[in-house]
Amino acid sequence: MSSEPGFTVTPWEVRGEVDYEKLLREFGTDPITDELLERIRKHTGELHLFLRRRIFFSHRDVDWILNRYEAGEPFALYTGRGPSGHTHLGHLVPWIFTRYLQQKFGAELYFQMTDDEKFLHDERLTLPETMGYSYENALDVIACGFEPGKTFIFSDIEYGKTLYRIAVEISKHITLSTVKAVFGFENDTNVGMIFFPCLQAVPCFLPSVLKGRNIPCLIPAAIDQDPYWRGIARFVAPKLGFYKPAQIHSKFLPGLGRGGKMSASEAETAIFTVDPPDVAEKKVMSAYTGGRATAEEQRKLGGQPDICPVYHYYYYLFAEDEKDLTQVYQDCRAGALLCGDCKANLAVRVKRFLTEHQRRRLDAKKNLDKFMVRD
Ligand code: TRP
Repeated sequence: MSSEPGFTVTPWEVRGEVDYEKLLREFGTDPITDELLERIRKHTGELHLFLRRRIFFSHRDVDWILNRYEAGEPFALYTGRGPSGHTHLGHLVPWIFTRYLQQKFGAELYFQMTDDEKFLHDERLTLPETMGYSYENALDVIACGFEPGKTFIFSDIEYGKTLYRIAVEISKHITLSTVKAVFGFENDTNVGMIFFPCLQAVPCFLPSVLKGRNIPCLIPAAIDQDPYWRGIARFVAPKLGFYKPAQIHSKFLPGLGRGGKMSASEAETAIFTVDPPDVAEKKVMSAYTGGRATAEEQRKLGGQPDICPVYHYYYYLFAEDEKDLTQVYQDCRAGALLCGDCKANLAVRVKRFLTEHQRRRLDAKKNLDKFMVRD
C-alpha cells in the first residue's frame, strides 16, 4: 500500500499523479530492464508496444519464469477483474497484454471475477449485481481474443467450492495483523474483506492443484494489485509447497480529465466498452488537454503532450506505429497540431476500436460456455 503525499495507490483506490519510480522502490519490485526485454523478445519475436513503451514497467521473477520455460516447464497465466460495473478502456490494458502472452507462450489463463470482493467492499452493490457484472465483464475478456479450451473464467461465488478449500489452507497462515499492515484494514472493516485476500491468492496455486503438480504462475496486472502477491501469495507459497507466483505490473491508463487514472466512478472521463461510439466521441472531444489558452498561444508555444491525457491515449492504445506516435508528439510540441484536431483524430480511432470490440463482445455471448467454469 502506498499513501505518499501527492498520490495514493491501494487495491481499492488510485489517486493523484503516480510516481512509478517511487512505487517500484516502495513495493520492492524490479524494473523491466533492456536486458530482460531482449530475453522476452527471443521467445516472442516481437515486443508488444506495452513492453516497448514501458507501460508494463515492473516485475517480480519474470526472469525465473523464463528460466523454467526454457527448461521445458510451461507457466500458467492468472489475472482478474473486480466486477463492480462495466468495463472501461483502462481495464483492457492488462487483458490485451495477457492475450499477447497467451499467444506467444501458449499458456493457459485462469481469470478470476471477484464478485465477492466487490459486494463486500461497496455499500451500494448487491451480490446479484456483482455476479451479473461478472458475466458482462467476461464478454469483454472474451472479446480480447483469448483461446477457448485454454482460458478459464470463473466467478468466486460460482466456483466457490473449488476455491474455498485452497483459501482455507492459505488463511491458516495469515493473521489479522498481517492483513491490517498490508491492506490498511481497520477495526470496522467487515470480516468478509478481512478473509477476502486469501481468495485472491487462490488462483496462483489453482493450476497446480487442478493438475496435481507444481506449475509456475505469472500474473499480469496493474501495480495496485501488488499487495496481494507480495503480502499474501508469495508469503504462503513456500509454506504450502507451491512456487511463488511471478508478476508483471502495468501503469494506469489516465482518465480524460485532469490527472488521475481512468475511473468508473467518473463516467464522463472514462470510456466504457459499452458506450455507443458517438457518446465516446463526445467524451473525447470534451477531454482535458495539455493545450494553451488560445490557438494563437498554442501555435507560438506548442502543446504539452507529456501532461496531456489525449496524447496518453495515443501512447497506450491508439498509435501502435512508432512513427505515427512521434508525429503526433512533434506536431503538438511544434504548435502545428491544435487540440481540437488532435481530439477529432483520436475520436475516429476510438470509435473504430469500439465498433470492432462491440461486435466481438456480441459474438462472445454465444461462446460464454466455452470459457466460464463453475462448480
Ligand atoms: N481485485 C481485483 C480488482 O478489484 C480483481 C482481481 C482478482 C485481479 N484477481 C486478480 C486483478 C488478479 C489482477 C490480477 O480489480
